[in-house]
Amino acid sequence: MGDFELLERDGLARVGRLSTPRGPLETPALLPVVHPDPRRQPIPPREIRQRFGLNALITSSYITYRSPELKERALAAGIHALIDFDGPVMTDSGAFQQHAYGHVEVGPTEILEFQNRIGSDIATVLDVFVEPSADHQEAEAGVRLTSERARAARKSREGLLAVPVQGGPYADLRAESAIAASAVGDVLAVGGVVPLLEQYRFAELADVIAAARPHLSPAGVVHLFGTGHPMTFAFAALFGIDLYDSSAYHKFARRNRLLLPDGTVALDQVRENWCRCALCDETPLTKVATLPDPEREVALARHNLLVSAEEMARVRQSIRDGTLWELAERRSTGHPALLAGLRTLKDHRTIFRSTEPESRRTYRETGLDSFRRPAADRWRERLDRAFPSSDLSPPTLRRVPLEPSYLARIPPSDDTGAPIPWHCPTPFGSTPIELIETYPVGPALAEAEFATGPGLGRRGTQVFDDVARAMGREYPWDRDWVPEWTRRQVVALLRFRYGNEVASEIPMAAWLGERSRRTGRLRWIRAGDRVLFQIGNDGIPRPTFAGAEWLAGVLPCDRERVVVDADAASFVGEGRSLFARFVRSADPTLVPGCTALLVDPDGALLAVGRLLLAPHEMRVMRRGIAARVTAHRHAPATVIEEGGSDEL
Ligand code: GUN
Ligand code: ZN
Repeated sequence: MGDFELLERDGLARVGRLSTPRGPLETPALLPVVHPDPRRQPIPPREIRQRFGLNALITSSYITYRSPELKERALAAGIHALIDFDGPVMTDSGAFQQHAYGHVEVGPTEILEFQNRIGSDIATVLDVFVEPSADHQEAEAGVRLTSERARAARKSREGLLAVPVQGGPYADLRAESAIAASAVGDVLAVGGVVPLLEQYRFAELADVIAAARPHLSPAGVVHLFGTGHPMTFAFAALFGIDLYDSSAYHKFARRNRLLLPDGTVALDQVRENWCRCALCDETPLTKVATLPDPEREVALARHNLLVSAEEMARVRQSIRDGTLWELAERRSTGHPALLAGLRTLKDHRTIFRSTEPESRRTYRETGLDSFRRPAADRWRERLDRAFPSSDLSPPTLRRVPLEPSYLARIPPSDDTGAPIPWHCPTPFGSTPIELIETYPVGPALAEAEFATGPGLGRRGTQVFDDVARAMGREYPWDRDWVPEWTRRQVVALLRFRYGNEVASEIPMAAWLGERSRRTGRLRWIRAGDRVLFQIGNDGIPRPTFAGAEWLAGVLPCDRERVVVDADAASFVGEGRSLFARFVRSADPTLVPGCTALLVDPDGALLAVGRLLLAPHEMRVMRRGIAARVTAHRHAPATVIEEGGSDEL
């Protein structure tokens, strides 16, 4: 397996780094398809790198091989010199020509050898292009032959190897092909989907990727052959596509079309100069429309490539921000077929489960479908476990009390001292009010506040009306219930995060919840002057070293732990990041973004750390960080609060 390092993530998308002989390649990356013959390439590859900031590209070793002139030059000077590009170059093998022309005139060994000789940075196995219309038998034969060739190719290639994943529309074959590719490939390239992309059959594409994706090694870089239209980037990125190869910028230009992140526009229809991208600013669109043929095509190709490069950068940014679902939902309004694709993707959302992060900074609703994200499933699952619906018996508040001061007014228990299970309706289902600040409910409601406009006061009053009605008697307006609510919230948060067994061990008399003076939100859980848990803006409690020591005492021996190799234990105990290759085992219920107990092989607590990887990824990733230490035994008080503790 090649050297891929994951740096940030959202959905199944990864901002990461692939090391290549010609420098690192940052993912997700757009690899423009470049014609190996400079005379047939509208934008010089050198310009693609310098002006468009695209550091890698893909070209066809097959076309190069088939042209005596190109072949000779490539063999003499290398593929980089031939196309005049000094960044990473991926070469394709000829399977696309099999799709386009029905045959390939080269053998798998010959074309791989050729790619080796011309200095390709990522060489592709000659696969069998399985059409979406293939029957199962034909598709199976294509998959088997592709896998056989891939195993042979691995033996004769030292550098990075791209192995296509075929299988047509058959989930069983896509899975088989994904497993076989993962065994030998550095780049795992989902293929045979060009017809689906060209015909906007995005729902079928979603079925195909969903069948393959869970079986692709997390250490591999995932490529999707033929994703060129920028409106598909966010959608494909959600599925964990790391590399995109695009000839769309040129193909659409040839057909006189402008690509945009939310669709396509025919140049003939353009009457206004609405694009002011750096290139259209030089030559306004209405002027482009009047240019003679080669120039017009080149101007359009430039616009198209710039828009595509920008969209890819936007995708990377939104992975870093944790807003990729929002971006994909917004893009899906660009075309009904894309909306159907995203809906189908959501039907497959269990494939997101193991890598779904614990929280994000925001949860923005963009449409009716916004509450069908994996975060909503995770929420319901955890809530059902910690608070069975029987615990959510009436009384209900009709509206969510968004002001923290509401707690001062709502009595937590009845006359006999029995707790009243107050809960409220939210887009994620009925929620105990102790948890309404917790992700995803809290961030979603904070956004919803804008949607419903001001008037918190009015809503607050409604809440109190509810309370008065539910109490069925004179409402005790004059009493401050906050200290009792604080205790209840401490228990509820730990119960939500760690389960009932842990929550029942809390020594309530010795512990104290502390609220932010500015916002009234619960921020710290203390024992005397020691902070045990910090509660971030996502409303999730995260342990300090002292908190982790307490957890270690009350949790069953594997839970919440990541076991660190003896070799790395002293480093981690001093606060260095835990690298994936030093992970011995991990509690499979941990998820990216959560804070885990990092222990040595004997179970001694070394540190607490925020996970970047899911447990099943830690074992297979050879590179990169598995967890960033937030507090350790030599500096137990050090607490790094990600996502901002705004009022410290
Ligand atoms: N280009 C577009 N689709 C494919 C495919 O399935 N395999 C290969 N090798 N190249 C492609
Ligand atoms: Zn433009």
